[in-house]
Amino acid sequence: MSDQTKKYERFNIARRLEHILLILSFSTLAVTGLVQMYALNSISISIISLLGGIELTRIIHRTAAVIFFLEGIYHFILMAYLLYVKRKDASMMPGLKDVIDGLQSFLHNIGLRKEAPKMPRYNYTEKLEYLAMIWGYVLMGLTGFMLWNPILTTRLLPGEIVPAAKVAHGLEAVLAVLAILLWHFYHVHIKQWNWSMFKGHLTHHEMVEEHAIELEKIEAGIPEPEIEPKVYKKRMQIFTPISIVFSVLMVAGLLFLANYEETAITTVPRVYADVDVFVPRTPTPFPTQAPTPTQDLLTASTWDNGMDFLFEQKCGLCHGESGGFSIKTYSGAISGGNSGLAIVPGRPEDSLILSQGAPGSDHPGQFTEEELERVRIWIINGARK
Ligand code: HEC
Repeated sequence: MSDQTKKYERFNIARRLEHILLILSFSTLAVTGLVQMYALNSISISIISLLGGIELTRIIHRTAAVIFFLEGIYHFILMAYLLYVKRKDASMMPGLKDVIDGLQSFLHNIGLRKEAPKMPRYNYTEKLEYLAMIWGYVLMGLTGFMLWNPILTTRLLPGEIVPAAKVAHGLEAVLAVLAILLWHFYHVHIKQWNWSMFKGHLTHHEMVEEHAIELEKIEAGIPEPEIEPKVYKKRMQIFTPISIVFSVLMVAGLLFLANYEETAITTVPRVYADVDVFVPRTPTPFPTQAPTPTQDLLTASTWDNGMDFLFEQKCGLCHGESGGFSIKTYSGAISGGNSGLAIVPGRPEDSLILSQGAPGSDHPGQFTEEELERVRIWIINGARK
C-alpha cells in the first residue's frame, strides 16, 4: 500500500514562473485585444478609457505580445534541451492512447464504464490544451505581426491578407479565451482545484485520479537512465551554438517587427474638428462588375456603380453620419453641408466637392487627378444615382 500523504513533485520553479508569465501576458492580451475587437460595446468603451485611451491600450497589447512571444522562444529552447540533450520522452505529444483515454473518460462520466482510464504523466486534457496553445501561438504571432506591420505585409503578400489576418486574429482570440474559460478552468479548477502549477506538486489522490500510470512508474522506482558525461558534453556542443543563434535571430526579428512600422491612429493627420476618427468594421463590399472592353468607365459611372465606393473610401472616414456633410448616402451627398450644395448635377463649377476634393487644396481629404476627373464627368452627366 503506498503512502497516501506523500506529495509528488510535478513542476519546478522555472516552469511555474513560465506559467505565471503566461497568465499575465495572456490575460492582458485577451482584455486589451477583445476591447479593440468589440470596440463599440459599452464594457469595451469603459475599459479602454480606464486604460487611458485606445493608443495606450494598443501599446499595452503590443507589450504583452512581446512578453508572450519571448516566453515562447524560451519554452521552445527549453523543450529542445530536454528532448535533444536530455533525451526525455515527448510526453506532451498525443497518441492513440489519448484518443482511447478520452473516449473511456467520456463513457465513465456518463456511467457506461465502471473504471476511469489510467493516464500517463500528461493526460489527454493537458495534451489537447498544449497543442491548442502551440497552434494559437503560431497563428496569433503570424497574424498579429501582420496587423502590426501592414505596409511590410502588403509589400510581400496580396492586400487581402490584412483584413483576413484581422478576422483570424480576432476569432482565434475568442476561441483561445473560451478554451481557457471552459476547458482549462473546468479541468484544473472546477473538477478539482489543482495547485500543482503554483505549489509544484500533486497529492497522492490526484496522482491516482489523473496520472495513475506515472504513479505506478514512480512507485516501481525505475531510475531514470543516466547520461554519460562525455555524451552530454558532445550534445551540448551542438545544442549551445544552435540555440544561441536561434534566440539571437528570433529576438532580432522580434525587435525588427516591433519597431518597423508605426501604423494607424497616430499617423492619420490630426484634424482639429469634430470628426469620427474611428469607423467600425463594415462588411466588405462586393467587387463592382468589371467593365466590358467597349464600356467607357468614365461616362458609365453612377452612384450605385462605383461612385459610392470611391466616396466611401476617400471621404467616408470624416463625412460619416455624425452630423455635417455626409457622403454615406446619395441623398446626403446631394443635399450638401453648411457651405451649400456639394454636388450640383450638370454643373461642376458650382459643385463644392470638386474644389474641396481637388488635389493640392487645403482640405484634409483629396482625390487623385484621375478620381477628380471621374467625379467631374459623373457630375456633368447629371450625377446619376
Ligand atoms: C480627414 C478628414 C476629412 C476627409 C478625409 C475629408 N474631409 Fe471634407 N471636411 C472635413 C472637415 C473637417 C470639413 C469642415 C467641416 C465643416 O466646416 O463642415 C470638411 C468639409 C467638407 C466640405 C464642405 C461641407 C460643408 O460644410 O458644406 C465638403 C464639400 C467636403 N468636405 C468634401 C470632401 C470630399 C469630397 C472628401 C473626399 C475626397 C472629403 N471631404 C474628405 C474633413 C475631411
